[in-house]
Amino acid sequence: MRKLLFFLIGIVLLGTAACSESKETNQIEDRVESLLSRMTLEEKIGQMNQLNGRNPDEKLMSRIRNGEVGSLLNIEQPELINEIQRIALEESRLGIPLLIARDVIHGYKTIFPIPLGQAASFNPSIVGTGARVAAREATQDGIRWTFAPMMDISRDPRWGRIAESFGEDTYLTTKLSSAMIRGFQGNDLKNPSSMAACAKHFIGYGAVEGGKDYNSTYIPPRQLRNVYLPPFKAAVEEGVATIMTSFNSNDGIPPSGDPWLLTGILRDEWKFDGVVVSDWASVKEMIAHGFAENGKEAALKAVNAGLDMEMVSECYFTNIKDLINEGKVSEKTIDDAVRNILRLKLRLGLFDNPYISEEDPRVAYSKEHLDAAKMAAEESMVLLKNEDQTLPISSVVKTICVVGPLADAPHDQMGTWVFDGEKEKTITPLKALRQLYGDKVNIIYEPTLKYSRDKDRSKFSKTLAAARKSDVVIAFVGEESILSGEAHSLADLNLRGAQLELISALSEAGTPLVTVVMAGRPLTIGTEVELSKSVIYAWHPGTMGGPAIADILFGKTVPSGKLPVTFPKMVGQIPVFYNHNSTGRPARGTEVLIDDIPLEARQSSLGNTSYYLDAGFDPLFHFGYGLSYTSFEYSDLNLSNSSFHPSDTLRVSVQLSNTGDFQGTEIVQLYTADKSASVVRPVKELKGFQRVLVQPGETKDVVFHLPMSELSFWNDGDVVEAGEFSIMVGGNSQEGLFSDFSIIN
Ligand code: GLC
Repeated sequence: MRKLLFFLIGIVLLGTAACSESKETNQIEDRVESLLSRMTLEEKIGQMNQLNGRNPDEKLMSRIRNGEVGSLLNIEQPELINEIQRIALEESRLGIPLLIARDVIHGYKTIFPIPLGQAASFNPSIVGTGARVAAREATQDGIRWTFAPMMDISRDPRWGRIAESFGEDTYLTTKLSSAMIRGFQGNDLKNPSSMAACAKHFIGYGAVEGGKDYNSTYIPPRQLRNVYLPPFKAAVEEGVATIMTSFNSNDGIPPSGDPWLLTGILRDEWKFDGVVVSDWASVKEMIAHGFAENGKEAALKAVNAGLDMEMVSECYFTNIKDLINEGKVSEKTIDDAVRNILRLKLRLGLFDNPYISEEDPRVAYSKEHLDAAKMAAEESMVLLKNEDQTLPISSVVKTICVVGPLADAPHDQMGTWVFDGEKEKTITPLKALRQLYGDKVNIIYEPTLKYSRDKDRSKFSKTLAAARKSDVVIAFVGEESILSGEAHSLADLNLRGAQLELISALSEAGTPLVTVVMAGRPLTIGTEVELSKSVIYAWHPGTMGGPAIADILFGKTVPSGKLPVTFPKMVGQIPVFYNHNSTGRPARGTEVLIDDIPLEARQSSLGNTSYYLDAGFDPLFHFGYGLSYTSFEYSDLNLSNSSFHPSDTLRVSVQLSNTGDFQGTEIVQLYTADKSASVVRPVKELKGFQRVLVQPGETKDVVFHLPMSELSFWNDGDVVEAGEFSIMVGGNSQEGLFSDFSIIN
């Protein structure tokens, strides 16, 4: 009886919640229509106009008064934002508040690791927490719209914006970007601490030819559907408030002007009812693409494609009225765009609650926030090598020698896309080692190189003398933050300046060498790895990267990160990623390499498979790879059945044992492979992951539930095809326990 009562109460509560939500939705739609009916054409066009709020002047204020502006970006002073909102609400005819936007990509004041680093945690919770922290800090200053998460699938480390991505895998990107959206938007967009998120860049920007930013992409529809679109579809299902179109042209069409993408997919298929905003001037840049003759044609193509708001280039503001008068754009098209914009402003509660408190105590850099940033940094770091258990630094170590240009680089440690983080708040590795471990070990510090591009070797001898007197050398190398991010593509991924020479010299000093790399992208560090006893990839770890690295070096924290992106041996291997197609002549791993080719070898003597004579087939490090201070063993892989219908769910279990001396967290990964299908499918795909903490000597049962629907792919529609599949569960994309199953109709 009690159960029935609880059940009925639950039904009533759910029903009530659903009713109140639909009531609120109807109220918002009513307010949208009421406002729209009172707007002039000029005021409607004004809502579609986003301007740069940097250094606002009286001219901008008068444009706001005249209803010519719907949104501002790059403004973050609370008092100024309040003044601007007051002008919009009290001095414009209809009192429509502005959307205040900013790039809050991996933190606002408290800076978290770059997204590529956060992805190495394989931890949606840590990514969501980082976004929640950023939202709390940014909304206090009046920012209610962020241009994140960036969810471009990135398979080319020459592209500097790989730093902002969650790496090369669709499944991992989908899970982490949805978590980031939840973090930014919270449970209720109307909550003053919630920010509208922005799924970007729509679409395919990570596939720019040659890794050169802003370049063209040539992604065919099927690959768009199977690789690039899924994170955005999930974002829409998650309720993302906005979507941003990308700079690239894809197969000759810039997304800002592509009706198939913006209306066909986003609106008709996915029923997206949020705002589509262009990237910076990407409407006007359709002229440079050669896709529009002038701003008027650019406006025509973008607005008819379904782009709601234009970022800064004002082709809309200048031309839409004429285009309507000429009958080339319908007022219904404008009304639809303005509805989306007004709906977002109402969902954010901006009409009823447009101002922010300037007096509230700021939550920026609170202990809670800094602790979250430290945990994110710890979980982002990947142990790539640890020979002779050099790490963690043991109690026999009395003197450590800290060297390198990234040991005490508070600005660069924060990484790319940081506007509001203060380098004075950054705790560097040197500072953290002194603060946390200076009483346990003697710390000698020799920067040796001033910055990552520094070629000056004059300090080498002094550094080597210090290294010889030490029990361990820790070299902090990598790249300055400016060398990754937007417009910062590289054709050479070797360490810059004299960093490799420094590593080489240190490796001959006779003292164990630990190399810590801070970078915004995979670098070709094969030689540095060979020369070092241990290597930790720290990405750009943010405000608390120093304490995170220090605690990992001394074993207070055991590294758990796994690579979210493949590391090439050399640039010539790019693109190189784990979920590639097999080809008709897949590499066998036994191919002859260039130094072993006999003289006068005959043409067909080397075999005919897909690999490089000089680089072989395998990358330097595989997707999903990462070590721990302990060791793990997988056993007893079990499948709930050997064959399944498309509507079934496969239960997979595996035993995970900690066979080492440290407690450790293993990121258990589940991959499947569709052995034969109506179109070629990748050799394997990540379909599940779990972070599992295991004590020394402990064995845990790790269980995955995999619906067969997750094995669907696009081939003229989403299909789950019958056929043979293999499954692998392990600690990276190459090693694990295998089994097979089939899908039957
Ligand atoms: C930039 C970036 C985009 C960013 C926007 C606003 O050029 O491409 O990611 O959100 O402009 O700063």
